[in-house]
Amino acid sequence: MSSFVRITDVSPRDGLQNEPGVISTDEKIRLVESLCETGVDEIEVTSFVSARWVPQLGDAAAVLSGVRTRKPPGMCFSVLVPNDKGMEAALRANDSAGARLIDKVAVFTAASETFAQRNTNASIGETIERFRAVVGAAHANGLVVRGYVSCAIACPFEGPISPVRVAEVVQRLRDLGVDELDLGDTIGAGDAASIRAMLIEVDRVWPVSATDEAVRSGRGLCTLHLHDTFGRAATCVGEALRSGVRSFDGATAGLGGCPYAGTAERPAPGNVDTGLVVRAAERAGYETHVDLTRLEGAAQLARSITSRARALA
Ligand code: HMG
Ligand code: MG
Repeated sequence: MSSFVRITDVSPRDGLQNEPGVISTDEKIRLVESLCETGVDEIEVTSFVSARWVPQLGDAAAVLSGVRTRKPPGMCFSVLVPNDKGMEAALRANDSAGARLIDKVAVFTAASETFAQRNTNASIGETIERFRAVVGAAHANGLVVRGYVSCAIACPFEGPISPVRVAEVVQRLRDLGVDELDLGDTIGAGDAASIRAMLIEVDRVWPVSATDEAVRSGRGLCTLHLHDTFGRAATCVGEALRSGVRSFDGATAGLGGCPYAGTAERPAPGNVDTGLVVRAAERAGYETHVDLTRLEGAAQLARSITSRARALA
């Protein structure tokens, strides 16, 4: 098992998708540029979803074009895509860049039917059918595919989700040929016991423990995507590390969350702060590539961009 932990910052996508105000394309580009300096292994730059569903990220192609020349060697850029239309847009972005700008596409489903329906207007089965064309096109173009499973611990609408249901969805993604699994505790309901129980069940169909090669390339990995709603994310990171997980998502400054994981009375909780994940991994004796001082610089920029936009919203 690897002594190294891979860190993906999802703030430009999962952070900004839930902002009430309008963040300009230039500000999004500045945030990605700033994250490029922090040493994170991967940045989820944006999403090619319907702008009617997520207007905040309707400028995905322009953001990618703006960060084209700032991608450091070895850095992985990923984008979220829900279907073949999103995949075509991602491939067009690579074509216009004249290079492999996007290295990975992320498809997303859930272990909860209600959440899948609200988030993508489709059942779990229908989302997975949509991914078939995405996985084929991604692999034909040399791109890695990440498969998210939201509500891996609990659903905001259905409550606790059984680990067996999570493993069933994981198996379907595995059969489809995704390269990386990403388990989302979408509302931050997890604690050490529920994270352990879920990982034990998932491990039956997708190996949770990561090799050095998987950590380096992102292929074959099981990643954990936490939200820190009840202040238990650091404990969950520690538990996941003990179970062999070596890859975590975070969002700078703890921004964001899924706009379809909340209601007007109970908004979706923010993602776990990337800095908290890095510190938890380092405390447990693991190495990352992240420079925490530079990461704090990116967090300050994220806070200033979002607070200005919130004040105007
Ligand atoms: P739909 O309305 O059922 O789709 O949405 P449709 O196929 O009927 O198409 C409707 C219109 O959208 C059409 O346009 C399509 O062309 C267009 P019209 O002809 O009416 O002008 N369309 C698109 N446009 C741009 N890009 C596309 C695309 N696809 C269709 N890719 C759809 C279905 C999946 C598109 C929609 O539900 C959607 O975009 N959902 C995305 C919601 C979202 O982004 N949620 C947040 C991300 S998930 C998350 O945050 C959780 C995660 O972080 C992990 C965790 O925390 O658990 C990953
Ligand atoms: Mg999230």
